[in-house]
Amino acid sequence: MKTITSEVAGLRTVITITAFIITGIFTALFFGFDLSNASSSLEYDDEQEGIKDKIVIQFSHVVAENTPKGMAARRFASLVESRTNGEIKIQVHSNGTLYSDQNEYEALREGRVEMIAPATSNLTKRFLKWQVLDLPFIFPSYQAVEEAYEGEIGETLLRDLEQDDIKGLTFWYNGYKQVTNSSQPILYPEDFHRLHFRIMPSPVIESQFEQLGASTSELPFNKTYRNLEVDFVNGQENTASNIYSKKLFQDQSYMTISNHGYLGYAVLINEAFWNNLSNEHREIIEGAMTETTNWVRRHSIEMNDESTRKLRQEENLQIDYLTQAQQEAWEQRLRPIYEETESMVGSKLMKKIYKLKDKYSN
Ligand code: LMR
Repeated sequence: MKTITSEVAGLRTVITITAFIITGIFTALFFGFDLSNASSSLEYDDEQEGIKDKIVIQFSHVVAENTPKGMAARRFASLVESRTNGEIKIQVHSNGTLYSDQNEYEALREGRVEMIAPATSNLTKRFLKWQVLDLPFIFPSYQAVEEAYEGEIGETLLRDLEQDDIKGLTFWYNGYKQVTNSSQPILYPEDFHRLHFRIMPSPVIESQFEQLGASTSELPFNKTYRNLEVDFVNGQENTASNIYSKKLFQDQSYMTISNHGYLGYAVLINEAFWNNLSNEHREIIEGAMTETTNWVRRHSIEMNDESTRKLRQEENLQIDYLTQAQQEAWEQRLRPIYEETESMVGSKLMKKIYKLKDKYSN
């Protein structure tokens, strides 16, 4: 009798717990799980001693961990955490798990995350001047990119963001973009004819493919693999590290090392959040940021070289390097974009970017 009673009691407990879990799931489904709307600057876990006093920065980005941006974000987070003795904790969300490149900027503005680092191309529709960074063949060397990002041009561009109550902390580096496609080797502008490419939302990039005779679709980074797989798009442009880490080469037979444009990032923080930090914390963040920027400037080159080496080992991928004559043919075809862009960004900024291009052209 005693055994039966305890079995019944046990069964009741199991039923109660199961009902509790099911009710919980239904409630969550009904009201909607929206992690992205969770208050982002504090961690609500009462069990953790002292956690309530911590400042938590949610840092969202869309690429893999083993990429220039992925590694830089982690490095920055650990520098800040150790230098503030854990008073600031930075939670890095990679691979677009929190927000995609299409909605991370709004999330930052609305304070649902504190930091993001979008590709500069993603800001070009909102801030027209940023288009200069997308111009094809505008940066003849890494030093030219560095001077644009860390000099007067970069400063001007970051200042634009204040209109949106966003503070631009710095630029991070990735690398030169290369072209992949499933159809044929691309060496001359004519080879682009009738192909369909995935692009970031950037008027200059759209115009670049148009000049080359190709059509485009703007697609989020994390949907690119799938769209290549189902052949909705025939190709895409990206850095070797992004192509390798996201397997964007898998349904592509050809890759051209064209170095025709540069992909880098603006590292942004919500301004209201920034203004609420103590001077001491701000200084630590700025110091860690400078150190990380210096690190990623050097290591992004190595990471992209390493990814290119790995891509060369892929048997089903043919890699071609543009010759000088082929590059000149691309440049000539793409020249009208410079004038088009000047009409949108003004001659003052264009003069500065031309000057930089000339300085580093041999
Ligand atoms: C892309 O969309 O191709 C890039 O913006 C991804 C990234 O952030 O590097």
